[in-house]
Amino acid sequence: MIVLGIETSCDETGVALYDSEKGLLADCLYSQIKIHAQYGGVIPELASRDHIRKTLPLIKEVVAKAGIQQSDIGGVAYTAGPGLVGALLVGAAIGRSLGMGWGVPTLGVHHMEGHLLAPMLEAQPPEFPFVALLVSGGHTQLVNVEGIGRYTLLGESLDDAAGEAFDKVGKMLGLPYPGGPHVAKLAQQGVAGKFNFPRPMTNRPGLDFSFSGLKTAVRTAIAEVSDPVSGLDDQQRADIALGFEQAVVATLAIKCARAMQQTGLRSLIIAGGVSANLKLREVLEETVAKSQGKLFYAQARFCTDNGAMIAYAGCQRLLVGQQDDLEIRAQPRWSLEALPAI
Ligand code: KG4
Ligand code: ZN
Repeated sequence: MIVLGIETSCDETGVALYDSEKGLLADCLYSQIKIHAQYGGVIPELASRDHIRKTLPLIKEVVAKAGIQQSDIGGVAYTAGPGLVGALLVGAAIGRSLGMGWGVPTLGVHHMEGHLLAPMLEAQPPEFPFVALLVSGGHTQLVNVEGIGRYTLLGESLDDAAGEAFDKVGKMLGLPYPGGPHVAKLAQQGVAGKFNFPRPMTNRPGLDFSFSGLKTAVRTAIAEVSDPVSGLDDQQRADIALGFEQAVVATLAIKCARAMQQTGLRSLIIAGGVSANLKLREVLEETVAKSQGKLFYAQARFCTDNGAMIAYAGCQRLLVGQQDDLEIRAQPRWSLEALPAI
């Protein structure tokens, strides 16, 4: 079965074609970053309008790129949530309408399930069960994954998501939106040990996270060391970026080790935009090695939002006969645990 996947939950228009027999056939991505960068964050209305402009042309492009006919498409999967409601509605309306017009089963996919299953697109995919660390701009969650749709939430952020903290610290350091990749790049010039930021909630039991205090600690440090006239110098900015990145990575690693110990599982997958972070991958490789475990992640372009993960997740569910009725579904809030098992 060839499934068209459509992702429009935030500021990326992603489309892809996934074939249950041959794997990923083609994918196309359009990032709206330039539009939102001037405002320092995503403007929902501008995001929706741009998805309207880009989605259909990208679908035509991905069909051409895959070298298939539109009539070869056997199912449509679109991101139904969580995300920005207007942005979601664009993909949902287009996906549902194409499915109806083409007479093929159509399904609204959970964005975080898409992220969670993205490592399955790799040549050596993980096998169930595993622990998943989902780290994106909107979510930080540890999940016990027994199979598709068999998710138990082990812990999550009580306030800011890890990606959100990266973006806010990026802003404080005068870096462009989204800050995550820029903070990571700047951190490469930093000197370790100049700034030691707290590892929030690691001293108490449990698997929840909190990153808002860390963000405040960075703000306080910036205020303390900034020159009253010229502000931070380049080395100070890099040192702060490194101190912050180390604090986030160490915090995530401590909680991942704890989750693996608690569940007795040896496979850890990381997914979502922050899983593209090289320091995080490096430190987690060491973490899993200590318990003879294995770490899995998607290639960088499938860590951040993309259509391939939605096509893949949708395909798995459509293959077992799950599909939606004619409703155009957009659910800005949607729990992973509410998903049906397959
Ligand atoms: O999964 P994603 O593309 O969108 C959401 O579902 O939110 O994640 C985007 C987030 C942003 O906060 C971005 O700054 C962060 O992922 N990010 C990174 C890196 N690449 C993307 N954070 C740290 N290091 C990176 N290399
Ligand atoms: Zn995402």
